Amino acid sequence: MEKIVSLCKRRGFIFQSSEIYGGLNGVWDYGPLGVELKNNLKQYWWQVIVRDRDDVVGLDGSILTHSAVLKASGHVDTFTDPMVDCRLTNQRLKADQIPQQSGTVFAYEFARDATPSVAAFEALVYLAETDAEPRLDKTLGLNDAISLGLRIVERRGLSLAPPSKDPESIESFFMDLSHELVRNPQSGWEEKFRLGYSVAQRAVCGDTFRVLLREGEPELKAKKIAQMFYQKRGLRLPVVSLLSKMPVQDTREFNPENGAELTPPRPFNLMFQTQMGASADPASIAYLRPETAQSIFVQFKNVLDVSRKKLPFGIAQIGKAFRNEINPRNFTFRSREFEQMELEYFCRPEQGMDLLAYWLKERIKFYEEIGISRKRLHILDVPEKERAFYSKGTFDIEYEFPFGRQELEGVAYRTDYDLQQHIKASGKQLDYFDEETKERLVPHVVEPSAGVDRTVLALICDAYDEDSAPDEKGKMETRIVMRFHPRIAPIKCAIFPLLRNKEPLVAKAREVQALLRPHMNVFYDEGGAIGRRYRRQDEIGTPFGVTIDFETLGEKGEELRDTVTLRDRDSMKQERVAIKDLAHLISSKIR
Ligand code: GAP
Repeated sequence: MEKIVSLCKRRGFIFQSSEIYGGLNGVWDYGPLGVELKNNLKQYWWQVIVRDRDDVVGLDGSILTHSAVLKASGHVDTFTDPMVDCRLTNQRLKADQIPQQSGTVFAYEFARDATPSVAAFEALVYLAETDAEPRLDKTLGLNDAISLGLRIVERRGLSLAPPSKDPESIESFFMDLSHELVRNPQSGWEEKFRLGYSVAQRAVCGDTFRVLLREGEPELKAKKIAQMFYQKRGLRLPVVSLLSKMPVQDTREFNPENGAELTPPRPFNLMFQTQMGASADPASIAYLRPETAQSIFVQFKNVLDVSRKKLPFGIAQIGKAFRNEINPRNFTFRSREFEQMELEYFCRPEQGMDLLAYWLKERIKFYEEIGISRKRLHILDVPEKERAFYSKGTFDIEYEFPFGRQELEGVAYRTDYDLQQHIKASGKQLDYFDEETKERLVPHVVEPSAGVDRTVLALICDAYDEDSAPDEKGKMETRIVMRFHPRIAPIKCAIFPLLRNKEPLVAKAREVQALLRPHMNVFYDEGGAIGRRYRRQDEIGTPFGVTIDFETLGEKGEELRDTVTLRDRDSMKQERVAIKDLAHLISSKIR
């Protein structure tokens, strides 16, 4: 995965959003090649789902969504993930992603601060001074306190060893010092120090805290984690108090990264809420839509009226959706801002299950047509207990990403749940009138819902390959090649004049570029050796390369005039093609 992430940045597919300010977690920007790839994917989906069919029309709904829409759909009340926080780092995690762990739980009941109080500090200064009137310097720190203590030990000939850095050792040192001093007082300052360093004078944190140690981990680790916990609660040198040690099996109550205790799970709504207009009252709350589907349901009647479609028919939409994911991860896979390609295909209730099977097949075909290998696609028949309660059947189309098998798209039979919810909440008639049977019905819906960003990521992962190719001197070297299907490749054809300093070659190459440009996205490159130029294009997945050479200019015989070499990215084979045939030849392979 690291190689893919690095290529995406190096070649301009995907960048972290706001990178120069440290990045915005879970948000991504698509660079010059990424945006082309993404657009090709969306255009192909739109072509197949909308333009090639008589029974589907499109919609482009707004992102800002009325709170009543999402209240009716159930998102306001139930679109939540169980969330836990690490009590040490405050890191927020999805509760259902915490693995089960076993080991020993160390429970701490409180901690006290071993740092001397101001009063104790003052006494130390007086006891350590010999001549001049002592002053309490506010900049004195813990190390100074220890030095003062050691000076007193030396002056009074006490047998106390210097403390280590551990808070417990420092506390013992000062406690022993106070006992020794009060045994032989020479002024009132010995008693003042004892009182100043008594536990009652020092800060205490009464929070309990637990740490899980896995088998083989040293006990000291638990103590250090606990000390860090109490430090974050304001104790500078926490002396921790262990209450118990207990073995546990298969618990999910601890952070797998550091063993610290997690808070109990609580629901976390994934929607981004915003305020419309200047007033801050609850009526002005709006949401960034968490899915594109809801605007399709809400506009169902309007679209039906204007399109005059008969059941079954669909409404399709591509657009941004937003979810405040607790733990965005795996590059763009789980993002907070992403795009969906959704189709709501309305039908009669008795057609639902057949159409579910139909759309599953269509969608698998789509992924194959954009070049995703069938063997890396898997179909999960989601069991009833894991489906939404209103769904009569759901299939997840999964892809084998380098980080595991994960969902690309859901194809769900959602019954009439959404339309019924909006009918109830709005009081409007969102039904369908059948002219032939003269009956009114609320249509059921089958929904293929795909993620643009996840599909782009799958395309990139699927295309990434390394093989070997000869360098300038014919020596074999490793070649990175993105084997994008020509249909979705960001650049379809690269155009190379053999030499940049031969004006007729450059002029001809520019002519070829102008000829192909209306048909496809082309890229002109005259920099560097031709092999290097091929390699740069292989790395971004350009399927075709056209080289304009001296044959093209007719210098090696009239029969070769106005022909070029056309190189195939995958086979690296080159063929001689007439310039006039280029547009047709390449176009037939990229449609
Ligand atoms: N309208 C149904 C719906 O939204 P979903 O399974 O929550 O269903 C559909 O989302 C698709 O949207 C997913 O299969 C995935 O491809 C994409 N998706 C969902 N959450 C995403 C996220 N946080 N980041 C990227 N893509 C996401």
